[in-house]
Amino acid sequence: MTIRFILNGEDVEVSVEANKRLVTILRENFFLVQAKSGCLSGGCGACSVFFNGAVSPSCLIPAFRVQGSEIVTLEGFSQTDEYQDIIAGFSGAGVESCGYCDTGKILVSELLLEQNIRPDREEFYRAFSGIRCRCTEPEHLYAGILAAGEIRQRRIYGRSS
Ligand code: FES
Ligand code: FES
Repeated sequence: MTIRFILNGEDVEVSVEANKRLVTILRENFFLVQAKSGCLSGGCGACSVFFNGAVSPSCLIPAFRVQGSEIVTLEGFSQTDEYQDIIAGFSGAGVESCGYCDTGKILVSELLLEQNIRPDREEFYRAFSGIRCRCTEPEHLYAGILAAGEIRQRRIYGRSS
């Protein structure tokens, strides 16, 4: 089938099997490789993308559901000021990462900060319940998100609170 959708702000179309996974389409048809093929069962977050504004596992999205949707991958999000806030916050808090599931961590961080610029621990742990990251300490990650929120407030309002 031919599917048309918006990918990182551009109208695209591609011919694929109707049940081909979005993560595979991104990697094989568009050479966007930040979304990784990890568990392929929705349990690790390594394949995360923004799918119509929500962080979603692209391994569970078949091609026929992509039709008419809007998708942003980490490659697209990395072009934004919001991405820079998060990277600066992670760096300032000493968040260590092997990179494997960065796409999930960064996109979930963004969604969390959009909802609350100073999320509490409960919100943090709830938001990250679908991310199985083996290399980043949760408390470091939480500190990185709080730091990113302060950086964002300074960037937008010229102050941190
Ligand atoms: S590869 Fe999609 S959630 Fe693990
Ligand atoms: S970044 Fe998640 S396992 Fe390393």
